[in-house]
Amino acid sequence: MEKYMDTSLACEERAQLLLEEMTDEEKAAQLLQISYNAVSAEDYERFQRLGVGSYLHVTGEETDKLRAAAQKTRLKIPPIFGIDAIHGHALLNGAVVFPSQLAMACSFDRSLIYEIGRATALEAAADGIDWTFSPVLCLGRDLRWGRIDETFGEDPYLAGEMGEAIIKGYQADNMITACAKHYIAYGEATGGRDAYDSEVTERKIREVFLPPFEKAVRAGCGTVMTAYGSIDASPLSANRRMLTEILKEELGFEGFVVTDWENVRSLVTKQHAAENLKQASKLAVEAGNDMSMNTPEFYDCLLELMRGGEIDMARVNDAVRRILTVKFKLGLFDGKKRPPRGTIACEEHKELNLRSARECAVLLENKSIGDTKVLPLSGDTKTIAVIGPNADDIRAQYGDWTFFSHPEWKDEVEAKGDYYTVLRGIKEVFPKAEILYGKGCGVLEADDKAVEEAVSLAECADAVVAVVGDCLAINGEYRDRADLSLTAPQTELLKRLKATGKPLIAVLVNGKPLCAEWLKNNCDALIEMFNGGDYGGLAAAEIIAGKLNPSGRLPISFPRHSAQTPCYYNRYDGWHGGKYVDIEAGNVYDFGYGLSYSEFEYKNIRLSKTEMEKGESVRVSVDVTNISDIDGTETVQLYINDKISSILTPVKQLCGFERVRINAGDTKTVSFEIEPEALSLVNAKCERVIESGVFEIMVGKNSEEYLTAELVVK
Ligand code: BGC
Repeated sequence: MEKYMDTSLACEERAQLLLEEMTDEEKAAQLLQISYNAVSAEDYERFQRLGVGSYLHVTGEETDKLRAAAQKTRLKIPPIFGIDAIHGHALLNGAVVFPSQLAMACSFDRSLIYEIGRATALEAAADGIDWTFSPVLCLGRDLRWGRIDETFGEDPYLAGEMGEAIIKGYQADNMITACAKHYIAYGEATGGRDAYDSEVTERKIREVFLPPFEKAVRAGCGTVMTAYGSIDASPLSANRRMLTEILKEELGFEGFVVTDWENVRSLVTKQHAAENLKQASKLAVEAGNDMSMNTPEFYDCLLELMRGGEIDMARVNDAVRRILTVKFKLGLFDGKKRPPRGTIACEEHKELNLRSARECAVLLENKSIGDTKVLPLSGDTKTIAVIGPNADDIRAQYGDWTFFSHPEWKDEVEAKGDYYTVLRGIKEVFPKAEILYGKGCGVLEADDKAVEEAVSLAECADAVVAVVGDCLAINGEYRDRADLSLTAPQTELLKRLKATGKPLIAVLVNGKPLCAEWLKNNCDALIEMFNGGDYGGLAAAEIIAGKLNPSGRLPISFPRHSAQTPCYYNRYDGWHGGKYVDIEAGNVYDFGYGLSYSEFEYKNIRLSKTEMEKGESVRVSVDVTNISDIDGTETVQLYINDKISSILTPVKQLCGFERVRINAGDTKTVSFEIEPEALSLVNAKCERVIESGVFEIMVGKNSEEYLTAELVVK
């Protein structure tokens, strides 16, 4: 037996022993990842013979075939199979499709997110996968960006907490490895234009964008993906400061860095930072990238650089060692046991998915007509009109990154999984009611006849459920939007429905916040589902019927107007109230907002001490009472503001949250330990420090409604 096959040795040691056996060709091959649909058939064969390090987007039996091919190479190094299993192993038709990351984040539930990660890992591993390119730790701050749906929302603390939970779920028992992406500040691209330059400084990165990645590294995340773009005009793929000095040396990241798709080529073709692929390959590796996602020529370039003594061999060896260590940790050398195929979409995962959809839906509006709240609709409701382009469209409900949109766009395919659109959900939860359905229009296409039909259905109904939002044509990767309004055909449809005078309950199925002022002012009730996965439609219907008491909260703020973005809550203070002269001040819905059928009252905020030294921690507590007669779940949120500081600090910053179940009439005391880090800032010298002074501690139900206490740090 080769020494590196000794399972009693540490994975790092085994990787080192194997590295010592390897030729330059074998090393270069480890650093490349290819996709079956992006290389020629000839290259696909060639790289199998060469023992390529990784494949992406290959699933099922094809992974077995490729694993067998690797066994025919000299050292039999197993490839690692990666895929974007970012809300379930959803590129496989029939696997469970969980709510999108943005929808998941509405749950503010770490344990749920962990379970989602765990279930996704089991389904992916059962399909031959070892590695998911998830979570996305970019922040959704510029709402024009097409990939808002992939983020955990606008806040670094929430994104970090959710990210840590899902990474731990993915990596439990080394089932698969996770990938924190896209490093770094990718979502901040100028103008919300995907992969453009992000005009950020290192200080800003450390304050806002790095913290979620720091948590990912601390959680032991196996891999990190380099973003496409550049920061302050420096291409990330060639950025040694970010990849090596900060990520690897300062944060101590021990896994490997993979580029995003074709980043090496883009250094030549898009960023013009290198004259040719050979130069680009050198730049990328020496900056700290360990594996190149695609750009198959990278292999020959790297080999040439190695043979010519033109590349730092210690760096190449370090990259190989990092990749091999992850492979050893995953058990790939030791006959990894995979879950049975029946794990995919098993009952347990479907139940978890239903729980996810239930926790993710957010009730935004519930007005009264006379003395009665519109929701829940009475069980005696006789006729319900379900109207709208997204009422029965599973593609829109799933959102991006399922088999419908990746790795290839598929128009004709039917979803094989068990799923509920809102229409199916309403039919199921109102078995005695007559359900009338009309599409009314497309998300993008007006249809006069369909509008007239929808209006006549609404006129015959006791209540109208209008399901509107966006669709894959205007949501997802490469699909940035300049205009965040609800599209014109849908707005027209809603106006016509409103004119019928029937109670109007709108359900949003969309990838990102839309300008929601009209919706807020005109709908009697409003439910935000985002991309709710298989059971989003059922959860929305259950809320409408009162079978589910909503508990989701917004992880992102909703603007009045497209040009009001960015509108994230944790802004710096400025002049003149930050108001535009032509629109009302403030957001339509703020971060952390969400209604419940229960009502919660906050009282008695107190600190364990009101003065302390730097470096100490303090406990803040509050009493929360459910003053309604309905049991419910409240998400208690902690925000902090450093009142006087050497540098601007956010007007408030989320530093803790806790979901608590509180039965009708009960009071629970909720406490948070405020650790020193929560009181720190990144100063002008880029150092994280705590400055003495007064801090405002806020605990409440969202970023605008809270109780406050003052803490003095000496
Ligand atoms: C995306 C990544 C993704 C990769 C592989 C790229 O287009 O930016 O997020 O992981 O493709 O599918």
